[in-house]
Amino acid sequence: MSSADPFRLGWFGNIASPEWKNAYPGNDARQWTNGRFYVDMVRNMERAGFDFMMLEDSLMVPDIYAGTAELELKHARYAPKLDPVPIVSMLAYATRHIGIVATASTTFYHPYHLARQFSTLDHVTEGRVGWNVVTSSEDRAAQNYGLDALPEHDLRYEMAEEFLEVTDALWNSWDADAIVADRETGYYADFRKVHTVDHVGKHYRSRGPLNTPRSPQGRPVICQAGGSPRGRDFAARNADMLLNIPNGIEGMKNYRDDIRRRAAGFGRNPDEIKTFFVIYPMIAPTDEEARAKNEAWYAREQHNLEVQLAHFAATMEIDFSRFDLDAPIPEDVTTNGHQSQLENWRRSLGGKTIREGMSRMRVQSIELVGSPDTVAAQLDEAMQEVGGDGFLIYGQPISREYVAEMTDGLCPALQRRGLLRTEFSHPTFRENLRSF
Ligand SMILES: Cc1cc2nc3c(=O)[nH]c(=O)nc-3n(C[C@H](O)[C@H](O)[C@H](O)COP(=O)(O)O)c2cc1C
Repeated sequence: MSSADPFRLGWFGNIASPEWKNAYPGNDARQWTNGRFYVDMVRNMERAGFDFMMLEDSLMVPDIYAGTAELELKHARYAPKLDPVPIVSMLAYATRHIGIVATASTTFYHPYHLARQFSTLDHVTEGRVGWNVVTSSEDRAAQNYGLDALPEHDLRYEMAEEFLEVTDALWNSWDADAIVADRETGYYADFRKVHTVDHVGKHYRSRGPLNTPRSPQGRPVICQAGGSPRGRDFAARNADMLLNIPNGIEGMKNYRDDIRRRAAGFGRNPDEIKTFFVIYPMIAPTDEEARAKNEAWYAREQHNLEVQLAHFAATMEIDFSRFDLDAPIPEDVTTNGHQSQLENWRRSLGGKTIREGMSRMRVQSIELVGSPDTVAAQLDEAMQEVGGDGFLIYGQPISREYVAEMTDGLCPALQRRGLLRTEFSHPTFRENLRSF
């Protein structure tokens, strides 16, 4: 790929409290639960040329760190938050083109319930919904659904494979031309074009058909963030788009090449899968101001440490309060949660102590600091080396200021270089994703 080949941008966040300790917090810290903050945000992102907004989710209030929810609720990163699935309707009603991806767990939904919900969302978004397929990684979530613990990591993926088999069958249970609405014959739908699926599998049973007609995309855009070998196979077989946070440019390139190789091995065209890498750009009017802002971000060491401890405790369910923070992470620590996250984390810490590493850790594949033009040039260079697809901006907690820096600073700078779309050429999310 050469300079001026466009790439895609997505947004990664959740429906949670925006930043409330910055200079202009407005009233959002309490009012975000009415969803209006995110409506403003999605409109801005569509205007700026983002391909999609991705809403993450989990299903518990974490209380692993020191056996209490204190740190978690203090920083409000994982909880409280709203269920992203119904929020999709609201965001779609306020926009015309941008894709909206909601996370839902195969471990806790039933395939019929999920197929029906996402078919409904694909209708009301007019073909702009995506489903981030996760298998969950927290026993705390399992305990909210009547289980003591999650099924084991690879078994969750095995269940997810069958889950998708069932949802695909249900989404296809209505032929595209099943609705005839023929006033002469008096038939609304042709019963010969609506089929049962009669799935009887190892983990699921469903008779079908869906009682929701075929939706504009047929199947929502499938998004996935598998990192382990089992997760990568699942993604390469099923996904339209992937999210990941490999370390550095080489890590991004290796991840993308690996997924493309696996996809080809499953008989797929690798160009149908778009990979997005998480970034957290620090932007200011000048490079110097951006560097100062970046340093100020890292200087909040105690805050960063607490946030990272709560985050890792929540997603890996490891109680870091058991360890000496002034020593490296013990060798024998394992997780049934995000396995690849633990490995990446161990690698990125190197020999550092937990405190040193976590107080200066940011969730991102590469560090981007500078004016909008400087960061646009950095992204151009990185994408040329990686080989293509896109970036996923993650700036947590989000603020109106940060949104404006991206939508009205970075995005126009990318567009001036021909690196970001200025219009959507197709009606559906999947077609737009694949349009270049
Ligand atoms: C960018 C990104 C977003 C993710 N979003 C979610 C999410 O919303 N909910 C969730 O349970 N897991 C989420 N995950 C975790 C993945 O689904 C997956 O479990 C993780 O990357 C570890 O991979 P593995 O399951 O193959 O070990 C996310 C991961 C990444 C990298």
